[in-house]
Amino acid sequence: MGVTSDVPGFYRLTEEERITMLARFASMKREELPFPSPPRPLPLENSIGQFPLNLSLANYFLIDGKDYLIPMVTEEPSVVAAASNGAKIARAGGGFLTRTLGSTMRAQVVLRDAGSPPGEEEIRSLEEEVRQTVNQQMPMVVQAGGGYRGMSVEQVGRFLVFSLLIDPADSMGANALDRAAEAISPMLEQRYGGSALLRILSNRVHERFSQAEAQVPPDVVGGPEIAQAISDASSFAELNEDRAVTHNKGIMNGVEALALATGNDTRALEAAAHAFACREGRYRPLSTWTFDGKFLKGTLTLPTPIGTVGGSIAGNPAAKACLRVLGVKRASELGRIMAAVGLAQNLAALRALVSEGIQKGHMRLAARTLAATAGATGEEVNAVANRLLEEEGPLRVDRARQILEDLRKEQRKGNT
Ligand code: MEV
Repeated sequence: MGVTSDVPGFYRLTEEERITMLARFASMKREELPFPSPPRPLPLENSIGQFPLNLSLANYFLIDGKDYLIPMVTEEPSVVAAASNGAKIARAGGGFLTRTLGSTMRAQVVLRDAGSPPGEEEIRSLEEEVRQTVNQQMPMVVQAGGGYRGMSVEQVGRFLVFSLLIDPADSMGANALDRAAEAISPMLEQRYGGSALLRILSNRVHERFSQAEAQVPPDVVGGPEIAQAISDASSFAELNEDRAVTHNKGIMNGVEALALATGNDTRALEAAAHAFACREGRYRPLSTWTFDGKFLKGTLTLPTPIGTVGGSIAGNPAAKACLRVLGVKRASELGRIMAAVGLAQNLAALRALVSEGIQKGHMRLAARTLAATAGATGEEVNAVANRLLEEEGPLRVDRARQILEDLRKEQRKGNT
């Protein structure tokens, strides 16, 4: 097996074979990968145990000419299968092209009962003092090239709202921005009167986005009719909010799974994504697909309030290993990968929806999961799943157990 994420039948390997392959892919020693993850100590917040979710790898990802195996943590195995499937399709068209749009986040200091808002000139005159106070709160961020970028003020009803524009560099920025807002508020209170009601970052993203594009020949999705149908499904999502929400939910399936695997805050991503989807006063899809007769072209713009350094990542050996496996150091690079994963997820969902429907693939995976739950291993998993799918009615674990028992009996008979 070469060093590529183009690994047909990856899902048929055993867990240890996958980890060994990952080590080779990431040029790491097997011992450097803390997988399967050992339990972590439980000192904090009333913990009574750990809640297992699978850490999986989506393959076939080619992003800006570089090969990636994408770590994903999700309760839903079909998410990983769909991401790999979407990436395989995109790979046939040269993979994903990505870029970063902006890097700053905002923090708000909200004063109540304050005087009238300062003018532009006064704000500029404060700037040096604000810059120093803000940057003192985040020496590591400043060292990494981030820090204070500007301040604006507006009157919102009876509140005077100062927005600090800060580039958190490779951290998600919540702590740094909250600290900055708290540090700056006494000076603002003193100057403008009133009292600080809120001092906190805004989870709305105005200037920290990642974009991914893919262009695929229609044959790879099943022909021009399917390509046109994918484009039509995208148009429908533009017109209909009920559909747009589901369309975006599919995108976030992949985005959040990668976010969890890399120790990022999934709620911040969700909040920012849905606010961005509503930026024009109406809920819209985050991605668009068009078919020009030659190529199916997709673009996704995703707010990426994420990081590659910071408390929750540093304290999680699995998240650190996932970042190492991805080979990313910069938050901007992780954001671009995230956008590519979201677009892959979306492409696979739309292709399935406009052709065979979403249930068929789900049923196949559910049957495989049941087979494994019943104790099937290796080749048995597919054999039990196939028999389960041949039966009428709902998939049940007791039936999977019975089928496994029968299969093993047949094999013993065959061997004697
Ligand atoms: C299911 O988790 C996600 C989908 O509903 C997304 C979509 O409809 O585009 C399949």
